[in-house]
Amino acid sequence: MGKKIFSGVQPTGNLHLGNYLGAIKNFVELSNDQENECVFCVVDLHAITVKQDPQVLRNNIRETVATFIASGIDPKKNIIFNQSKVSAHSEAAWIFSCVARMGWLNRMTQFKEKAGKDKEKASIGLFSYPVLMAADILLYDATHVPVGDDQKQHLELCRDIGQKFNNDFEVENFFKIPEPLIQKQFSRIMSLKDGTKKMSKSELSDLSRINLTDLKEDIVNKIKKAKTDTLPMPNTNEELDNRPEAKNLIGIYSSVSNVNLDETIAKFSGKNFSEFKEDLSQVLVDKIIPISNEIKKLKKDNIFLDKILKDGCDKANEIASKKMKKIHEIVGF
Ligand code: TYM
Repeated sequence: MGKKIFSGVQPTGNLHLGNYLGAIKNFVELSNDQENECVFCVVDLHAITVKQDPQVLRNNIRETVATFIASGIDPKKNIIFNQSKVSAHSEAAWIFSCVARMGWLNRMTQFKEKAGKDKEKASIGLFSYPVLMAADILLYDATHVPVGDDQKQHLELCRDIGQKFNNDFEVENFFKIPEPLIQKQFSRIMSLKDGTKKMSKSELSDLSRINLTDLKEDIVNKIKKAKTDTLPMPNTNEELDNRPEAKNLIGIYSSVSNVNLDETIAKFSGKNFSEFKEDLSQVLVDKIIPISNEIKKLKKDNIFLDKILKDGCDKANEIASKKMKKIHEIVGF
């Protein structure tokens, strides 16, 4: 039986290799299976949990759509839309904020990381962000949610919210409890400058990540400058445990070229990093440059991108508003 897929990406600019290998690559594979029904959301409401420049945000929403399409998601067969245009998301998020417990949200590690030392100054939206994410998923009766490893805890919270709503209102199976789809390997791509830190768009140094809009020379330069250790390339998988940078780069090579980890290790065993880096740059250039070129081409056509969003929003609205109507009945509105 086909799966009902839902996932989201924040339109905060600089979508990078982590987003691609951890999530978007998987979206493409799932969307290519004719049996699946896929909904991919540009989560602009999530983006404003931190300050955004309105004009930049508008452009980033379109760039995220362009990235989905350039990566291989067919907008005719899949729903692509932006969250703010389907008001059921905000409404369901409020209702779920009355279902979720403070204690559950207090445990979220991403809030602690993002809020940093000055928690008092973080927006309330940044704190309740996973509640909105639960609304996204549960409104569409999604059965499977493809994400990178960093979203695992948020998905567990979504499951808890769905379950508690079903129990509290005695509506067994009203909300489907979704399964996370997190790849066993390569679901956490690390910074090129520090193999213990996640590759992230908020990291100050651009050398820490490969952006999906990078030029060939950027990719080659970033891989050349990527941190390594002083040993030759590892001979075994076990050696990688204490060598985070080697582990990350070998993981990136394997994931981009669809070769399993052991084969990659065997291929480069005992060689110098410089030799490996040349091959790594090449597979990255082969993968990323066509996507990068296509994003740039699509970005010139706002009318096309806006039409995709408009069509996607109409379809998403139809699904979400039906579910919302039932939620109203159940809650007693
Ligand atoms: P966001 O926009 O931060 O990231 C989008 C997707 O990219 C994955 N990702 C990574 N995977 C591997 N390595 C990395 N370094 C890396 N960095 C990012 C993320 O895990 C994510 O899958 N809250 C979500 C967006 C969201 C959502 C949803 C996802 C909103 N509603 C409903 C699924 C379902 C977020 O901020 O992702």
